[in-house]
Amino acid sequence: MGPGPSNVAPSVLQAMSRPLVGHLDPAFVQMMEEIKGMLRGVFQTQNEMTFPVSGTGSAGMEFCFVNLIEPGDEVVVGVNGVFGTRMVEVAERCGAKVTKVEAPWGRIIEPQQIADALKQCRPKLVAVVHAETSTGVLTPVEEIARLAHEAAALFVLDTVTSLGGCSVKIDAWQVDAVYSGTQKCLSCPPGLAPVSLSKRALETAARRKRKVQSWYLDVNLLSSYWGQERVYHHTAPITMNYALHEALRLTLEEGLENRFRRHQQNHESLKSGLAAMGLRLAAQEGHQLWQLNTVTVPDGVDEAAVRKRLLSDFNIEIGAGLGPLKGKIWRVGLMGETSTKENVKTFLRALGQILKDSGRKVDLEAALAAAG
Ligand SMILES: Cc1ncc(COP(=O)(O)O)c(C=O)c1O
Repeated sequence: MGPGPSNVAPSVLQAMSRPLVGHLDPAFVQMMEEIKGMLRGVFQTQNEMTFPVSGTGSAGMEFCFVNLIEPGDEVVVGVNGVFGTRMVEVAERCGAKVTKVEAPWGRIIEPQQIADALKQCRPKLVAVVHAETSTGVLTPVEEIARLAHEAAALFVLDTVTSLGGCSVKIDAWQVDAVYSGTQKCLSCPPGLAPVSLSKRALETAARRKRKVQSWYLDVNLLSSYWGQERVYHHTAPITMNYALHEALRLTLEEGLENRFRRHQQNHESLKSGLAAMGLRLAAQEGHQLWQLNTVTVPDGVDEAAVRKRLLSDFNIEIGAGLGPLKGKIWRVGLMGETSTKENVKTFLRALGQILKDSGRKVDLEAALAAAG
C-alpha cells in the first residue's frame, strides 16, 4: 500500500513465466500490435505512435523531453512536487530554458498561473504532472492544455500514477505527448513506460535541426521497430511485454469506468475511516487522488515509527513524505490490484491499533463502520 509498485494479479505473474520468443518473432509482433491497441484504449487515444518504451516511468519522461526539446528552446513546467521538479531537471539537461510555475506541495497548478507564465515567454511546450505521487494531488489539465495550444505550444503530461486509476483522456484533452509507468494503477511490475505522441508532436520530432541526443529514446528510430517496418532497434524486454499485455487485458476486461469507480469508492472509504479516527488527508480538498492518499501525521506521533511497525507487525508497506512534506505525511497507495475494501479495512485496523498502543484515543469500531 505504498506509492507503487502496487500488487500484481497472479495471471500477470504467470504471463511472465511463459517461454521466451524472439523480439522479431511473428507471435511477438502480433503481441506488440495488441499491446499498442490496448494502450490506445487506456489512454483513450487514436494516436498511431502509442507504445511502451523499455524502461521505467522516468524513461517515459526522458523520451518525451529528449524528442521534443532542442538546446535553447523555452519550456514551461508546472512544479508542485517531486515529479514536476524532475521534469525541470530533465528539460534542463536537454538544454531548455525552463520557466517554473510553482504551487505549494499539496495544491494543484492553477490554469491562471500557466496563463500568466505564457504572457512572459514563448515556450515550445508546457508540461504538467497529472497525478503528483509525492503529494496526492490531481491537477485538472484540460484548461492548461487549451492555454498551451493557444500559445502555439505542445502540451506534455505525466500520467505515471493516474493511468488506469482515474480518467486520462489524451485525445479529448488534446495532449501532445504523454508518458506513464506500468507499476501503479495498471498493476504490472515496473519496467515499461507507456507513451503516446500526437501528430503534432511527431512532426516536431521529425523537423528537428539536430539529432535527438539519446539514440535509445529517439522516436524516429523507435518508430521503425514499433511501427510497420519492424526494424531491429533494441532487444525488447519480452517478459515485461507479456506482463503488460496481461495487465492491460485485465484493465480493459474490468472496464475503465468500473475501475475508476472502484478506485474512487475505496478512497472515499479510507477517507471516511480516517476521519472517524480524527485523521485527515493532506492534499487540497476537491483534488485528492483516489489512488494515492496523503495522510497528515497528527501532532506528537512519530511517523517513521508508525511505518516501521506497520511493516514489521502487520506486513503493510506505506510511503513516507518527501521534500517539504518529509515527516509530515504518510502516503497510502490504493492503486490497481491494491485498491480493495479489504485492504482499506486491514490498514485502518493496523493503524488504529498502533495509534492506540501509543496512547492515543482511537474509536476503531467507529472507523471501520465509517469505512463501510
Ligand atoms: C508522477 C510520477 N512521475 C514519474 C515517476 C517516475 O517513474 P519511475 O520511478 O518508474 O521511473 C513516478 C514514480 O513514482 C511518478 O510517481
